[in-house]
Amino acid sequence: YGTQTINEQGHLTIGGTDSVALAENYGTPLYVYDIQLFRKRARAFQQTFIDAGIGYQVAYASKAFSTVAIYQVAAEENLSLDVVSAGELYTAVKAGFPVEKIHFHGNNKSLEELQMAFQVGIGCIVVDNFYEIDLLKKLSEQTKQSMNILLRVTPGIEAHTHDYITTGQEDSKFGFDLKNGQADEAFEQTYNHQYLNLMGLHCHIGSQIFDTSAFQLASEKLLRKMAGWQQQFGYTCAVLNLGGGFGIRYTAEDQPLEPAVYVSKMIETVKQTSEALGYPIPEIWIEPGRSLIGDAGTTLYTIGSTKEVPGTRKYAAVDGGMSDNIRPALYGAKYSSLLANKANAAMTEQYTIAGKCCESGDKLIEQAELPLVEAGDLLSVFCTGAYGYSMASNYNRIARPAVVFVENGNHQLVVKRETNDDLIKQDLPYSQKAVQR
Ligand code: LLP
Repeated sequence: YGTQTINEQGHLTIGGTDSVALAENYGTPLYVYDIQLFRKRARAFQQTFIDAGIGYQVAYASKAFSTVAIYQVAAEENLSLDVVSAGELYTAVKAGFPVEKIHFHGNNKSLEELQMAFQVGIGCIVVDNFYEIDLLKKLSEQTKQSMNILLRVTPGIEAHTHDYITTGQEDSKFGFDLKNGQADEAFEQTYNHQYLNLMGLHCHIGSQIFDTSAFQLASEKLLRKMAGWQQQFGYTCAVLNLGGGFGIRYTAEDQPLEPAVYVSKMIETVKQTSEALGYPIPEIWIEPGRSLIGDAGTTLYTIGSTKEVPGTRKYAAVDGGMSDNIRPALYGAKYSSLLANKANAAMTEQYTIAGKCCESGDKLIEQAELPLVEAGDLLSVFCTGAYGYSMASNYNRIARPAVVFVENGNHQLVVKRETNDDLIKQDLPYSQKAVQR
């Protein structure tokens, strides 16, 4: 992945830095991010739009990995930003991310969150439901402040990895249904509002998608809807946001396309459909999360105990697990690994990589091909950059790992390792006498 190689000592290097040295320096488990790879992906998405001469925004879906430092890099790379909570918005503002390029998502944004969005002067709110329309009308009328909005719709296309299905009426907690009139109702409620500036439509059809056809179908459906409104109401939407979901390669089984391929297929369909409908070609916005940050991340673990169940399998346990990567336990997600301190050794064994949480389901990899491992060996698990740290927990009161960025042979701590004191920081003592009545 990216700038990873193996050096003369047989150690995995990431971003020009020896993984064994990183582990010694910062301890394990450790999330290591190859920032050059993130930049490369960001540029590839953007360049495709530039080459096609089409208006665009590439918004980093920061639910995949949200920290001050990555927001700074995203800003350097001219990305826009998708946030989904006051917490992500706050982090982005603190990082100095340009607020006019932040898009706010969510199916139940609170009044406080929307107020915050108005206060900081956010670029766009992706409106999910009628309750939110009411809140936005009230807020904008009170503050006399204009707000750009997109309407999120459910186009009845659900895509997962290789396949997609079209469902007449999608059962989703997100967005306005395109088919049964909800989207039309939402359009009529917003398009001529004094303060709400309806810029267009948004949809997100799934995650870890390998196929371009679902995106193409979605763009067609949304464009048709926009063209219909233009005919009926004489109102033109300037933006088509097709969400994220571009797949990445976790294991050899996964065969994703290059970012440029997803995007150029989208552009092709949008151009053709717009032409056929006589509709001005809208700006295309996308929101990649995983495909920007996923393969930039590697987790380093130290191996501790091992165990053999005779005739069945061998276990090797690491010093982290579902507390820093819930995806195998939650989704059956698959990962690949390497013995980072013996990266050239022959893979003679198979291990189940177990975590250290008190739960039998805490296994990171079912069958990892590795050399014979010993306590103290360093295991690298690849492609943990998306939804690893961001979904980490303190289950079993395990402190969350540190995060290090590496680039051009430099390494820098960007999230400190949690300490035991951090774990009890919000705790308060209890005694019956002190209870307030
Ligand atoms: N835009 C919207 C509106 C989304 O809901 C999502 C992801 C994205 C963009 C980014 O999708 P991506 O490009 O990262 O696939 N926790 C799950 C993934 C949940 C994705 C939720 N929405 C996982 O670990 O696989």
